[in-house]
Amino acid sequence: MTEEPLPARRWPLLLHAPGKAILFGEHAVVRGKTALVMALDRGTEVRFEPRRSHGGLQVNGLPWRELGNPYLAEAIRRFPGWGEQDVSLTVRSGLPRASGLGSSAAFTVGLVAGFLLPEGRLDRARLAQESYRIERAAQGVGSPVDTSASAAGGILAVGAEPREGELWDLPSEGSSPAFHVSRVKDPGWSWAASYSGVAKATGPVVRRVGEVFDTARGQEILAGIARVTRDGERALGREDRADVGHLLAENHRLLSELGASHPRLEMLLRAAEPFVEGAKLTGAGGGGSVLALPREGQEAGLLKAWARAGGVPYRLAVSPGGARPLDGPLPVGDHPDHVAGF
Ligand code: PMV
Repeated sequence: MTEEPLPARRWPLLLHAPGKAILFGEHAVVRGKTALVMALDRGTEVRFEPRRSHGGLQVNGLPWRELGNPYLAEAIRRFPGWGEQDVSLTVRSGLPRASGLGSSAAFTVGLVAGFLLPEGRLDRARLAQESYRIERAAQGVGSPVDTSASAAGGILAVGAEPREGELWDLPSEGSSPAFHVSRVKDPGWSWAASYSGVAKATGPVVRRVGEVFDTARGQEILAGIARVTRDGERALGREDRADVGHLLAENHRLLSELGASHPRLEMLLRAAEPFVEGAKLTGAGGGGSVLALPREGQEAGLLKAWARAGGVPYRLAVSPGGARPLDGPLPVGDHPDHVAGF
């Protein structure tokens, strides 16, 4: 399958890169099992503006070194010339950082696209590969789920098993296997997520869960998540909302048995119950967010219940396209307070 490349663009340039939510299979994907991930209609915007003065790359008004952002530092370690360029970046996100909704991956994809597009048109496979390498090295663990979703858009299956009609492959990095990425049917539903307000740290949770996977019960849970993900893909294909909801709940049960949940996530899931077909934690867990498939007509009730329970709720849809240049001014974003974190 071939994807439309991004057309070459000079600076000034504004890029939008979608965030993501994992539907099924987080953590298991780190062991090579398939995960299903959707690109969100919210994400991160990165504006590239040439600077008249010298002094290299600035981000949100600061010299890049002062920012201490691990994704940026890793990108410049791989592409040292980027730090020397007299360009000013402004970053805004429509998603909170460390929420499990892919704002760091979206920033990385926007960063890579903005630096590579002035060199010529950009293949989405290359965008996904460079962004994954940067994210993987910055986190020290992880799969290409987030960066591929942001580069491709839509709903994707990502795993170590080769499949027909692949979008692209990602070579093995460190202890991670090679991954294959392909498209999954999007039934076009409305989704919702709520951030718990508890920032998660992917690396420590992945390492903790990895120790559980190394036990006999952990191996059973891994097989259980792989089965739920397979059934979830079929249920999405049949547009069977009730079955998808049931499988989301089953996936959550397995994730909590792995120790990936958090009391605030459990509270949000309880608050969601009357309004949803099913719900689960999404992303690494240990904080972060929950994702739900609302019952038809129950979206507003769900968002209110989450807000009353102290969550930060979002109505979400799948973004059919991946990262892309935008015309017009930089949007203000819903989380200007998160600009230095992205
Ligand atoms: O960083 P998060 O919260 O989006 O988690 C990603 C999901 C994991 O499977 C736990 C890790 C990974 O890189 O796939």
